[in-house]
Amino acid sequence: VTKIGVLTSGGDSPGMNAAIRAVVRTGIYHELEVYGVMRGYSGMIDDDIFRMESRSVANIIQRGGTILKCARSDEFREPAGRAKAYENLKKRGIDALVVIGGDGSFKGAQKFSNEFDIPCIGLPGTIDKDIAGTDFTIGFDTAVNTAVEAIDKIRDTADAHDRLFVVEVMGRDAGYIALHSGIATGAENILIPETKTNIDELIASLGEKEKRRKLVNLVVVAEGDEFGGGNEIARIVKKRLPNIDTRVCILGHIQRGGAPTCLDRLIASRMGYHAVESLMQGRYNVMVGIVNNKLHYTPLDHAIKAKQKLSNQWLKIVKILAS
Ligand code: F6P
Repeated sequence: VTKIGVLTSGGDSPGMNAAIRAVVRTGIYHELEVYGVMRGYSGMIDDDIFRMESRSVANIIQRGGTILKCARSDEFREPAGRAKAYENLKKRGIDALVVIGGDGSFKGAQKFSNEFDIPCIGLPGTIDKDIAGTDFTIGFDTAVNTAVEAIDKIRDTADAHDRLFVVEVMGRDAGYIALHSGIATGAENILIPETKTNIDELIASLGEKEKRRKLVNLVVVAEGDEFGGGNEIARIVKKRLPNIDTRVCILGHIQRGGAPTCLDRLIASRMGYHAVESLMQGRYNVMVGIVNNKLHYTPLDHAIKAKQKLSNQWLKIVKILAS
């Protein structure tokens, strides 16, 4: 490996910049040429590729978003798109890629590598934390902290008006953000896709608490919950418990932005460093993850969406603490 390309793909997540910085500077340390590819795979196809120096990544470790921008590319799914992308790498002599993104981006990388013999390394960058082979994904900690900060604020106004707020958080079809932020904010109920939502039980528990005048402030709902998120849950609660003054708040994309937390900067730096080390050692087509605080390499085609195995203990704790 002599020249590597780095790109961010899929949805952005806080800490991607810290990962780019680590890849660029570790590459330069090993005397490699490093190239930034704009807008994920789209930039590879459109030849939007530029040489990066150490200075190109100055002053970005603390910034959300991604200086390389993000995109989801339909063209790269087609063989013709991938062939075009390869030509653009070849003419510069780029012989390896570091792809920062989610499982969809890794699938693309694996395919590309099989077809054109370009070794690829994946780094898990998503707020959803839904990828197998790692305890952390770059951006999750920041997103969850943003959600916690927002929900704390919602609790203030909920408390002032004796209202119930149904708060919807992101996570696509995973409930990690909901579970973590719900526990950390003392939500009465947390609804996630990984467990069946028993709506009658939810109504009964909210109704019972209302009867004994316990203030019920918060229900945190994952957007991928089987009922389709916060609006629908709020609609049902309003209909069946008209005495509870209920509002809904959808946190949305604020969870994707903002300065990365210390933890996200640390894991992004560590993973970015090891992405390049991995290429130097000839360990190709793997995703760099961290499991039990140790580096963990997962073949790209196994770094797929992971469903969380919820320990019953957590659910029991939530119930007891909210009673
Ligand atoms: O995968 C990250 C994520 O923010 C999900 O939590 C959410 O469902 C989705 O992306 C939103 O995508 P978009 O930015 O395309 O609306």
